[in-house]
Amino acid sequence: MDTNALRVLKLFAVGILVNSVVTNGLSATESLETAFTQRPREMVCNETILLLEMEGCGDHFKTDMASVDPRHWCNLTHFIKEYNSFSDCTERNAMDVGCFWPNPLVESYIIRIHKQFFSNCTLERVVLVDPPEDTLTILILIPVLLTLAMIALVVWCSKRSDTFS
Ligand SMILES: *[C@@H]1O[C@H](CO)[C@@H](O)[C@H](O)[C@H]1NC(C)=O
Ligand SMILES: *[C@@H]1O[C@H](CO)[C@@H](O)[C@H](O)[C@H]1NC(C)=O
Ligand SMILES: *[C@@H]1O[C@H](CO)[C@@H](O)[C@H](O)[C@H]1NC(C)=O
Repeated sequence: MDTNALRVLKLFAVGILVNSVVTNGLSATESLETAFTQRPREMVCNETILLLEMEGCGDHFKTDMASVDPRHWCNLTHFIKEYNSFSDCTERNAMDVGCFWPNPLVESYIIRIHKQFFSNCTLERVVLVDPPEDTLTILILIPVLLTLAMIALVVWCSKRSDTFS
């Protein structure tokens, strides 16, 4: 697996995890927004324009996915190219309009796309591109677990401040 595939797989896995957290009714994205939002100082990130850009990437991805048999929508092998170009598109276009990538708005857009295509996929059903070697598994799992821990912490903190305010 090359680094690109690894990055895509990580984003995909995190997306599905975040997706299930959000589906469970926790507003992780909102919490993440307050925790992680950091605007570029000079270039202003216009969220209206950013959303339009993301929708452009999403439309492209939808067209690409239409040519993939829905039975294979949980098998990353069948659409890794399409997913990779979607992921690259969000990154490139967000940077082009002066926004950070990833950022909360992009994340919530990616989650929307995930809901649309992968709502029936679970991590167990997501098929790895190659059976990863042990080192690879660890390399993938560390950032995924870190992200999960971060989300859990943010959600826990926001719940705690809700209770005490
Ligand atoms: C963002 O861009 C839109 C469309 O060009 C514009 O109407 C809006 O005023 C801009 N918002 C900010 C905060 O600059
Ligand atoms: C995923 O797709 C690949 C390529 O067609 C195939 O070899 C593999 O068996 C598929 N896995 C599942 C679980 O469908
Ligand atoms: C998920 O499963 C439901 C029920 O089987 C089906 O109606 C829906 O179209 C599926 N969604 C996706 C994105 O495959």
